[in-house]
Amino acid sequence: MSYGKRIDTLCSLLEKTHTFADIGCDHGYCTLYMLENGLCRRAIFSDISKGSLQKAQTLLARFVDEGRAIGVLGDGFYGVPKSVGEVLIAGMGGGEMISILSHPRYGFMPEKFVLQPMHDSEKLRKYLLENGGYITRDFTFEDGKYYDVIVGRKRGENEERQSYTPLETEFGRENLALKPKAFIDRTKKLLNDIEKYLLTENLQQSSREELLKRKERLEGVLSL
Ligand SMILES: C[S@@+](CC[C@H](N)C(=O)[O-])C[C@H]1O[C@@H](n2cnc3c(N)ncnc32)[C@H](O)[C@@H]1O
Repeated sequence: MSYGKRIDTLCSLLEKTHTFADIGCDHGYCTLYMLENGLCRRAIFSDISKGSLQKAQTLLARFVDEGRAIGVLGDGFYGVPKSVGEVLIAGMGGGEMISILSHPRYGFMPEKFVLQPMHDSEKLRKYLLENGGYITRDFTFEDGKYYDVIVGRKRGENEERQSYTPLETEFGRENLALKPKAFIDRTKKLLNDIEKYLLTENLQQSSREELLKRKERLEGVLSL
């Protein structure tokens, strides 16, 4: 059963693991995919909203009854042990994801992660690289809207930190190297939007300068 291209893309990036955690699970589709396909022995699905968690409880009822799926009502990694094999956080802002990963009491860098931020991908990449994460995939895909997805793992103790250039941090290393169609299309759309904004009357000089700098970076990306 398909739940749409975005969910299918996320599922295709999830790997077999002992324990899977879906943070901000809402409907619980990805957890169902992991359990139904034998990709994890146990799953923790959590959400800060009672209503959202209830949707997943209903969808996953048979696995909950078997004791293989455990629902947690709470913020971020509350109730999620550091020993969890793989974490999915999708559909919230990059800033919110950073708050979850860096929470003073419950935060940690997961062994493996799939993160799909709705915005602030650049901040999230920077956080991951500076805080013990190792990014293995980071690309843009399209499903009606454009989405960034960042896949990775905890960096090994003696493993060197990845050195991303400022452009790679802003746009994603894989996007710049492989230029997937969705990334190029989104870049063209952003350029188009900027060109429209620049025509706005009474645009503040500082805003104009910011827009022009961004326009230059986007044009640079297209000409790479
Ligand atoms: C837009 S939905 C995305 C659902 C699903 N992950 C997906 O990608 O389709 C975002 C979900 O995250 C939950 N959420 C937001 N902030 C959260 C947090 N700090 N901890 C746990 N859940 C959170 C919301 O209640 C909501 O159910």
